[in-house]
Amino acid sequence: MENRPQWGTRAGFILAAVGSAVGLGNIWRFPATAYENGGGAFFLPYLFALLTAGIPLLVLEFALGHKYRGSSPMTFAKISKGKEWLGWWQIAIAFVISCYYPAIIAWASSYSVFAFNQNWGSDPEGFLFGEYLKLAETPGQFGGMVPGVLIPIIIVWIVTLGVMYAGVKKGIEAANKVFIPLLVVMFTIIVIRALTLDGAMQGLEAFFKPDWSKVLDGKVWVAAYGQIFFSLSIGFAIMITYSSYLPKKSDLTNNAFITGFGNSAFEVLAGIGVFSALGFMAAQQGVPVAEVVSSGVGLAFVVFPQIINEFPAFNGLFGFLFFGSLILAGLTSLISIIETYVAGIQEKFHVSRTKAVTIGGGLAALASLVFATRGGLYFLDSVDYFINTFGITLAGFIEVIAIAWFAKELKNLQKHANDISDIQLGAWWRICLSVITPIVLGYMMFDNLRTNLTSEYEGYPREFLFNWGWTVALGAIFAGVLLSIRRKNKIASSNKEVSQ
Ligand code: ALA
Repeated sequence: MENRPQWGTRAGFILAAVGSAVGLGNIWRFPATAYENGGGAFFLPYLFALLTAGIPLLVLEFALGHKYRGSSPMTFAKISKGKEWLGWWQIAIAFVISCYYPAIIAWASSYSVFAFNQNWGSDPEGFLFGEYLKLAETPGQFGGMVPGVLIPIIIVWIVTLGVMYAGVKKGIEAANKVFIPLLVVMFTIIVIRALTLDGAMQGLEAFFKPDWSKVLDGKVWVAAYGQIFFSLSIGFAIMITYSSYLPKKSDLTNNAFITGFGNSAFEVLAGIGVFSALGFMAAQQGVPVAEVVSSGVGLAFVVFPQIINEFPAFNGLFGFLFFGSLILAGLTSLISIIETYVAGIQEKFHVSRTKAVTIGGGLAALASLVFATRGGLYFLDSVDYFINTFGITLAGFIEVIAIAWFAKELKNLQKHANDISDIQLGAWWRICLSVITPIVLGYMMFDNLRTNLTSEYEGYPREFLFNWGWTVALGAIFAGVLLSIRRKNKIASSNKEVSQ
């Protein structure tokens, strides 16, 4: 009867879910976040966030998608009509992320080629901001397109939309089945090599050395929760959509544990790899590890090129493996981010998958060109920060409140998951979602608001943050509300109409 696309195998689903979770957040965000927030001591809030919010929310989203068999808006609409906007808001957040994420994959693609001859020369910082990104002088300036970024962005879109057109099983599942094992092999080679470099142990010592004083700092907890949400792909429609393609008999809870622990294992692996390499670089330069640590753009595109320059042998190959890993991790996450609105558009407007990919992907591709301008990096930095801070975590907060407090759905979903899963959810699961997570996330929201209303992120001009931060984050909420009143969802007939 049902025409909804389905994953071919359980392993296919798990690979896709892990593929979504393991992304740029694991490789370039986690290591430095952990280091800056107490090193070894960061594992305490991190594990707490994983066990009380990350995995419980993952189980919740798996159960929601599986039970209601719909995209995020459809799922919330099925619970009650007044909640559809929440699903569209999550999709709007995913849409925004899918506009800047391809730019980072595009940079990684360029750098995977540059790696062979170390085209960045002896000054990777000057090369990145000057020669490659041609960065505008002040934030907010567009300054024209940068062909060196534009061309790889176009290629990233061609590859990604190609996968999306092919469908859930033949496209998404097939791509993940190749990309994820390849990523694990490539990344393991890097980590093993990094561990055997001179100075690696000093790097690891810096990474794991606990600074317990940080555990009492609220900001560290905020960082841990933020990291878990982004990294596990929860709160922005992805896991609801992915689990809506599961067959009726699927072990939801076990799958959630595998995905959650798989993601964290990769995160810790990335931390070990990155800090071993940083230890090596610090040893080469005769400086403490603290002096060479950086995160995000700086880590991947300035520090890593420096490390590759100093590698004892096979520099080009290791550079290629590192940037290739970023590309693979990024692509599998990007695919999942786009699938949220492909499914949403299909169900809401009753169009074919091809049309939904063309409309949604086409709009995102156009919008992503902003990040191929000379001002691209500034736009990206601000949009990324605001959509994470006042998008993902806020939407996750509203999601648990809506489901646990207003819809009082937790018991039903617990039963739904327990009926088909090995691991049985107990009262702990409901307490995590209805008490612990709302309290911590509520505090987080308050703290984030206070910080951002009293100071400017990265010291950027106010007008720039208003246009490229607040407007984007609030715009996503507005878009969510607007899309939910646009046309009635034909809930009853929708399942039949969603076909590949
Ligand atoms: N979960 C994805 C990441 O970590 C979005 O990058």
